Amino acid sequence: MSRKDRKELKKGKGQKREKTVSTPMQLRRLMEKELEPKRYQHTLGVAYTAAALAMRYNADMDKALIAGLLHDCAKNLSVEKQFRICGRHSIAVSAAEQKNPALLHAKVGSFLAWHRYGIEDREILDAISWHTTGRPEMRLLDKILYVADYIEPARNQAPNLPQTRKLAFEDLDECLFLILRDTLAYLSASKTEIDPMTQQTYDYYRAEREKGGRQ
Ligand SMILES: [Fe+2]
Ligand SMILES: [Fe+2]
Repeated sequence: MSRKDRKELKKGKGQKREKTVSTPMQLRRLMEKELEPKRYQHTLGVAYTAAALAMRYNADMDKALIAGLLHDCAKNLSVEKQFRICGRHSIAVSAAEQKNPALLHAKVGSFLAWHRYGIEDREILDAISWHTTGRPEMRLLDKILYVADYIEPARNQAPNLPQTRKLAFEDLDECLFLILRDTLAYLSASKTEIDPMTQQTYDYYRAEREKGGRQ
């Protein structure tokens, strides 16, 4: 959602925000009520992994916790409901999201973080928006959430998880690059619709890595 959209929503048009809640503890309680148990476990894993990465890389720990707690807050909504929210609040749906609605929960989650959970912080809202695809020139918090979502303790499917987890605390950018590479390989092998942004993010970080002398 653009800044202009957000301003218009704030001005009214019968779209008042539902409530203002912003501390990690309050959000944790709300997520426990609202998410399915498995998703809640994943959410806690992402939140605390993100907090640990924030400690390691001198990022704001509370922002990392909040981004982790809310990153999948739209995932318990049906796809129909997510499309309805997009329609009602003028949130643009890309062609890739039309084809693979599982991608949609990131931007709907970012909207709900603002609208329902009272989060104003741009860095948190952006980190949630981009947590499935990444984006070129990611902020530190974007990277932390993206990596935490992949390596949190309950994850067990991805290849090379032990090495990836170790690398996350040694070299965040290299870890991010390897996750993007493995994710693209997985998506093309499983013939899942690839969001062009995932490819763009990978291409950007591959070029950055080559500039840094890595092959
Ligand atoms: Fe997600
Ligand atoms: Fe997630």
